[in-house]
Formats: sequence, C-alpha cells, structure tokens
Amino acid sequence: MDEYAIEFKEITKRFGTLVANDHVSWRIKKGEVHALLGENGAGKSTITSILFGLLQADSGEILVDGKSVLIHNPNDANALGIGMVHQHFKLVPSYTVTENIILGLEPKTAWGHINYQRARSKIQEISHQFGLAVDPDARIANINVGMQQRVEILKTLYRDARIIVLDEPTAVLTPQEIDDLMQIILRLKAQGRTIIFISHKLKEIKTCADQVTVLRRGKIVGSADVSDCTEAQLAEMMVGHAVEFVTQKDAPTIGNVVLRLENISVKSMRGSIAVKDLSLSVHAGEVLGIAGVDGNGQSELALALSGVVKPVKGKIYLDEVDVTSFGVRKRVEMGLGLTPEDRETQAVISNFNLAENYVLKTFYRNPYSSVLGFLNKKKISDDAQVQLENFDVRSANGWRSSISELSGGNRQKVVVAREMTIASKLLVVCQPTRGLDVGSIEYIHRQIIAQRNAGKAVLLISFELDEILNLCDRIATISHGSIVGIIDAKDATRQQVGQMMTASHKETVVG
Ligand SMILES: Nc1ncnc2c1ncn2[C@@H]1O[C@H](COP(=O)(O)OP(=O)(O)OP(=O)(O)O)[C@@H](O)[C@H]1O
Ligand SMILES: [Mg+2]
Repeated sequence: MDEYAIEFKEITKRFGTLVANDHVSWRIKKGEVHALLGENGAGKSTITSILFGLLQADSGEILVDGKSVLIHNPNDANALGIGMVHQHFKLVPSYTVTENIILGLEPKTAWGHINYQRARSKIQEISHQFGLAVDPDARIANINVGMQQRVEILKTLYRDARIIVLDEPTAVLTPQEIDDLMQIILRLKAQGRTIIFISHKLKEIKTCADQVTVLRRGKIVGSADVSDCTEAQLAEMMVGHAVEFVTQKDAPTIGNVVLRLENISVKSMRGSIAVKDLSLSVHAGEVLGIAGVDGNGQSELALALSGVVKPVKGKIYLDEVDVTSFGVRKRVEMGLGLTPEDRETQAVISNFNLAENYVLKTFYRNPYSSVLGFLNKKKISDDAQVQLENFDVRSANGWRSSISELSGGNRQKVVVAREMTIASKLLVVCQPTRGLDVGSIEYIHRQIIAQRNAGKAVLLISFELDEILNLCDRIATISHGSIVGIIDAKDATRQQVGQMMTASHKETVVG
C-alpha cells in the first residue's frame, strides 16, 4: 500500500501573468489531517481546485494512491474518492438541503422517480453520525451560512469521499460550530479518511492537524509536524515576518454620541422579532463591540443600521438626526460605512471589476460622476488603485480584475477599503476579518483603531471574542435580540465576556 494519498509534483498554474502555483510539490499521507496555510492569495484554493478538477494545471503531475491521474472535472475527482468543501458555497439557492446533497447522485425508486425518502434517511443518518444538524427540507436561500456550510460537508460525506478538502470551512462558522467541526474532522480521521484542511486560524490547525504546509506567493515555503511549531512560528512562516497579535492603542478620546438606537425592534426574514427593544449609543472616538453567539439578532441589527431593513419599532439617530426611514444611499451620504457579514451576497458584484466595486455606493456623485451624469472613469480607477495598494489587495490586473478572480481574503479587503473611505462619521464592521490571514487581520485591526483615533464612531459586531477584546473600548453583549450588559473593555476578561454571553442566554431561554 502506498504511504501517500496525494502527491503533487511540480504543479504550476498561471492566470495571465500571475503565477498562482509555482512548481508546487506537496505530499499528503494517508489518514492524516494536513493543514495548508498561507496568506490571502497564496494559491491554496488554486492548488486544491486543481486536485478537484475545477482548474487545470499548466504543468506538473498529480498522483493519487501512488498512481498518476488526470482529473479533468469534479466527476473524475469524485470517482477517485476526492471530495471538496468550497470556500465559496456551490449550492443551488432555490433547492432544498436534500436536493443539493443528492444532486447528480439521486437515489431512484423502482419507477425511476427520485427516492426522496431514501435520500432523507441517508442524510439524517450521516448528519446524526457526524453531529451536523441540518433541516433536510429547508431551502438553501432560507438558511444561514453556518447551516449551508454543514450542507457542503454533508455533500462530500454523502459521496463517501476518502480524501476530503476543506477550504476554509471555519471562516463562516461560529466558535461553537468550529468546536464541533474540529470533532468531526478528528472523527473522519479516526475512520481512516485523509483531510486537507485550509484555515487561517492557527489555533484550529494546532487542534486538529498532524502536518502543516505553508504556501507563500504560490510557492511551498516549508512543511512541518504541527506539534513541533508554536502559533507564532506558524504565523511567521506564513507571512515572512513576526506578527503582532495584539493591536497597540492609547486610551480613547470620547466625543459626542454619533449613533443612537432607541428601543428598536427588527424582524428577521422569517418574520419573527430578531432584535427586541434594543437601545445603544456609540460615541465618536470609541470602538463599541457587540459580542454574542451567532443568530442572536446581529444580522438583523446590521441590516437595520445599513438601511436595507426598516425597524418595526423604535428610532435610529445618526448625529442626532432621525434616520429611521432613510434608505442606504441617504445614510451613506451622512457618512455611514458598513461592511456586512456576508460579503458575497451583500457587498460585492462578482462580475464587476475592482474599481466598479470600489465606487458601488458613491459612483453617482462628485467626483465620480459629472453633473450631466457621465462617469469619470479615470478618477474612479485612480482612486480605486490607490486604496487597493494601501490595503495590499492582490490581483492579476489591479483594478481591472473582477471580484470573481480574487481570493476570498482579498475580496474582503476590497470591501473594507471601500467602507472605510465612506465612513466619515460611523463605521459599522460585521465580521471584518472573516477569512483573512493573520497579516491582513493585523492590518485591518490597525485600520479600525486608526478610524477610531481619527474621531469616528466604530461599531464592531463579531463572533470572535479575541477580536472584540483586542479592539474594543466598551463591550456590549447581545442575546435574543437585546443588549444584556455593557462593560468597559479595560477590565474585561475572555472568561467574563464568555460567561455573560452564555449566562444571559440561559436566562433568556428559561424566561
Ligand atoms: N480565475 C482567476 N482568474 C485570475 N486570477 C485568479 C483566478 N483565481 C485565482 N486567481 C488569483 O490567483 C491567486 C491565488 O488565489 P487563491 O484563490 O488560490 O488564493 P488563496 O490562497 O486561496 O487565498 P485566500 O486565503 O484569500 O482564499 C490570487 O492572486 C488570485 O487573485
Ligand atoms: Mg482561498
């Protein structure tokens, strides 16, 4: 029996002049969890997409179980026992969970119809076995990203893949869901499956991986036994310099109230009350964090702040102006920048280029449009290019690249760059560093503090307690749509905030 499940030999892949994979030689042992680490745009999704048959290498060879193979498409990959959970979901929104999982592999009845009953019971069996809770009859469009991710994982398990690639599976999961996934990965390994695990979270790699390989700008820079390296060493290997995990900041200079929420209630897509009687003030010069478990009204609060959804009750004041009935554009004009939690559906247009995405909310006004309505394309691309360089957004053709050609983390940087420019008074950031590498996180965190130091009010909504503790001046905890406590971040500990989140949770559930 061959020792390696997969061997990449001298794989090179170019996109135009950009070399996404540069003579990558990489071996994955059978039955191990092998982490692939690397900065945004390092080429991780590219090399694994080549393995899954979504992309073709320009040169090089792939061996599966010691045999040289040609993988032209995902069907070839499936036939070789390779499954992949993608960084950007590939689910059909109008189909149900069950329909998505069985797509292309539908069990049939004796009459040739799809045997949904058999499909559902097999899905329930797998989901039970691996602790992946899904509603088999829900439509993808109506479920949250966490459940969509579980559907993607179930899809590979349904196909009984022996080698499973997880491309940043945890970027969209809550801390609780991440803990569960770590267990799932270890269970898969115990059954002898081989896992390629892509993640920017060093902690996760320490928890579940045996081996780690680092890619930098398309090249392998090293491979190591996970137990031999510290998180700091991994970070340094990845970005090429030491990384500061704690953002330096002085005491805040607090100004006037910029955002004031007065007893707002907001309905969810499903029609239930998701934000309940919530009141909150954010001052100029401070970062106020909202900590909480996913699904406690954070998404609806963000939609209400952006102007996409109108609260059913209460008032929103921006600089003491009642903006409750203002739409998105009017709020942008008042200096509100907001990075939504789901950038793919709420923040970018993927076939537009980077410059077009950069001015998505401001193209209609001076200096990007003339009074006659003509676009000043030069100004748009010049400004976009400057900001893209500031944020170190990596793409093959600068502002001319389309969003769809960018790596996940680089897409996020485009959105953050845009919203920070718009936010002259208030910056609302929801999960701003989701999917970013440690170097980019360090950069974005510094930018958030710079915004606060420049006298803007910053509201940070994040499921990452470390991020909240690192950046905030005050921490509010949200539970069941209400703020259940606000504390000064100076004296806050991880345990304390964690307890507030869970304690209030139980109280509310009981009450
Ligand atoms: N279809 C494409 N056309 C042009 N360039 C592309 C395309 N796909 C990827 N690239 C470029 O190739 C490089 C590697 O991208 P890839 O998606 O593999 O990065 P990654 O390591 O997965 O990053 P992230 O952590 O941000 O997901 C990036 O610079 C990206 O812009
Ligand atoms: Mg990627």
